[in-house]
Amino acid sequence: MSTTDKNISVFDVAQVRKDFPILLEKAHGKPLIYFDNAATSQKPQVVIDAISNYYSHYNANIHRGVHFLSQKASNAFDDVRFKVKHFLNSRSEREIIFVRGTTEAINLVASTYGRKNVHAGDEVLITAMEHHSNIVPWQLLCEEKGAKLKVIPMNDSGELMMEELEFLITDKTKIISVVHTSNSLGTINPVKEIIVKAHAKGIPVFVDGAQSTVHSVIDVQELDCDFFAFSGHKMLGPTGIGCLYGKAELLEQMPPYMGGGEMISAVSFEKTTFNEVPFKFEAGTPNIADVIALGVAIDYLMQMDRTEALAHEHELLKYAMHHLSKIEGVRLIGTALNKASVVSFVLKEINAFDAGMYLDTKGIAVRTGHHCTEPIMTRLNIPGTIRASFLFYNTFEEVDALVDHVAKAIAFLKPQHA
Ligand code: ALA
Repeated sequence: MSTTDKNISVFDVAQVRKDFPILLEKAHGKPLIYFDNAATSQKPQVVIDAISNYYSHYNANIHRGVHFLSQKASNAFDDVRFKVKHFLNSRSEREIIFVRGTTEAINLVASTYGRKNVHAGDEVLITAMEHHSNIVPWQLLCEEKGAKLKVIPMNDSGELMMEELEFLITDKTKIISVVHTSNSLGTINPVKEIIVKAHAKGIPVFVDGAQSTVHSVIDVQELDCDFFAFSGHKMLGPTGIGCLYGKAELLEQMPPYMGGGEMISAVSFEKTTFNEVPFKFEAGTPNIADVIALGVAIDYLMQMDRTEALAHEHELLKYAMHHLSKIEGVRLIGTALNKASVVSFVLKEINAFDAGMYLDTKGIAVRTGHHCTEPIMTRLNIPGTIRASFLFYNTFEEVDALVDHVAKAIAFLKPQHA
């Protein structure tokens, strides 16, 4: 199949779309074309129902009550830890910590592992294409400790300059934190190669899987990463819930993150002893409804033929990049060889925000701006991009509409030079 063909896909998009009620909505009276999946994915009806079902039928606090509802809620909640274990292929459910999302997971590790192990003169290594959430927590840590934040650079295509890695990893490097898939560029980074090189020097690696988890099959044992994090809302689940995976031997050595109920073993005014992992990191009443709904999102993903779904997304990406690049005035940003289904572009002499507003009037939802990755924009010398991010429920016809309306936006918004 050529990049110009619409895929005669074995993946039944029409059938899958029926599971996502929001895809029938209209925006400004036009059928909604939702291309802001990197910001948040839409939710299948089963996930929406799981939240309503919990609050309608068995809302209770967990691990605290002997009564029927509490037992039922506790069992439903506890099952999800096993689902996540299976989903990420971790060794044990003890390695799965429920957090609000990837941002909280990174802050947790920076504040616990980081505070314990990073000292004055040490180094933390990240990449040039991190989301702000994988920059700022390490920056705060480095400022507090007098450590140095170092960055693996990227080339003009948006690929990491891996040849620099051997010079950037030093005896002072205490942790490396890398984005698996860039939210702005779609680049899929060679995290396995980074992990192998880091481990050769005994350095742990945190992988930010916020964008990769829905676009690839994750196996933390195969990756051998030390930490991995994802956000539920980017992979069909609700907002406000995500997971941190950490190797048990590291989690056990780390001090707690927040103090409160559940994370303790015994408390007196003189001293507190802490619960076992993962509970040591889960203070307070957790986000019970959303954990349960996350479990349903994982079930939904795991019952799909993910190979077919991912192949469909890849064909959408190739098709969109090919057709957008043919429009005069469009410049693609992020042309790495290994890419997930994210297309970023700029328009000659047209502000990305204006183009986004124009597309919105046609019912097309894209994101515009720096996408919380200002250093990428600085590196590429642009203020921001227009970003269309696809998920398996998107269609070639929707991409056709995007291409058509981008061409019209250029004609409509182009400055009239005297
Ligand atoms: N990080 C999310 C995005 O890329 C919000 O849009």
